[in-house]
Amino acid sequence: MADLGVAAGTNSLDPMRLVVEGIRGRTGEDTPVTVVHTDIPANDFNTMFATVLGSPGSYAHEPQVFAFAEARSFYVVPLRITRV
Ligand SMILES: C[S@@+](CC[C@H](N)C(=O)[O-])C[C@H]1O[C@@H](n2cnc3c(N)ncnc32)[C@H](O)[C@@H]1O
Repeated sequence: MADLGVAAGTNSLDPMRLVVEGIRGRTGEDTPVTVVHTDIPANDFNTMFATVLGSPGSYAHEPQVFAFAEARSFYVVPLRITRV
């Protein structure tokens, strides 16, 4: 899934958890989920990863959940959507 305009990531934690839970509710608890957090190149991605990976209860602590970042404007369609 894509998180467009992540900034520091603080406000992404709860929505990403809800979406991960929603996906797994439909497809099974073991479904691997990739989350791509996007923002402009000037964004502080070090802080973003510290938030996403370091916050207690973060969705990223769930097994088979993988957090990535894309430093590119969302207007250039940074992701190839393969499944909605
Ligand atoms: C108002 S902040 C919201 C941040 C976060 N999603 C939140 O809810 O707290 C908007 C974010 O979108 C990013 N942004 C603005 N234009 C963008 C673009 N064209 N492509 C990607 N990110 C963009 C900004 O850098 C900023 O981090």
